[in-house]
Amino acid sequence: MILSFHYSTSQPINQSTNAMYFKVVTIFPQMFDSFWNHGIIRRALEDKKIFASAVNIRNYAEDRHQVTDDRPYGGGSGMVMKPEPLAAAIRDASQTLTGTKTVLLTPQGRVFNQKMAWELATSDGLILVCGRYEGVDERICHDLIDYEISIGDYVLTGGEPAAMIIIDAVTRLIPGALGGEDAAEKDSFSDDLLEHAHYTRPGNFEGQEVPEVLLSGHHQEIEKWRLESSVMRTLLKRPDLLLQNKNLNRQQRDILKKWRFEIEKILDSQ
Ligand code: ADE
Repeated sequence: MILSFHYSTSQPINQSTNAMYFKVVTIFPQMFDSFWNHGIIRRALEDKKIFASAVNIRNYAEDRHQVTDDRPYGGGSGMVMKPEPLAAAIRDASQTLTGTKTVLLTPQGRVFNQKMAWELATSDGLILVCGRYEGVDERICHDLIDYEISIGDYVLTGGEPAAMIIIDAVTRLIPGALGGEDAAEKDSFSDDLLEHAHYTRPGNFEGQEVPEVLLSGHHQEIEKWRLESSVMRTLLKRPDLLLQNKNLNRQQRDILKKWRFEIEKILDSQ
């Protein structure tokens, strides 16, 4: 992926890298200080796999008190985010970056999932607009927003945690961001199955043994076990994923048939 982020002011970015740019538009930029400074996100920033910053909408408010919200037309409770400072902040962010998508975080958006994370990871960069109060002025959505995304059917006090979730999920899909061995392709959901069970030392934890096959060093058997673990965990924990998956391969279907046979034997014996 050749990217073309242009800073209007600061340093140029090497456009031959796979870097991705995130810009968060928020009234609480400090919420992100800790987020940028831990784990994979921190390392991705250090390695210039991603470039990220949070901009304060207040800086774009022109009045003396830097007001970013106002009462809703038509009355009612709560406050609405004013369009002018928000539009100015989004426009400024998209002027300094080209080829980006602008995402509004809102409980009214499409519910985020792994497929959307892969889709967003193909864009050159993301501007993430964090709503607060009762919502943002509707006119912002018309011209300035490409996607409205929700992280689930519940209401947060603001879009900031949702922006962090999206940045986190997208960053780990950027080539090299997970470190030497990229594991993103093996993730839960990457093929509509949950990932297999994991074990580490000790071999016996409070009387529970690690499955023997994992200690055998027999790679083919281990892969077989992992596939079975993956299919059966999906069946037990998220059967909806199997139901909606119309592309189960032969091996995956055989595992389900084997267990159907075992279950029928139990039932027949009753
Ligand atoms: N803002 C408030 N609730 C939200 C949600 N569920 N997803 C994204 N942004 C939000």
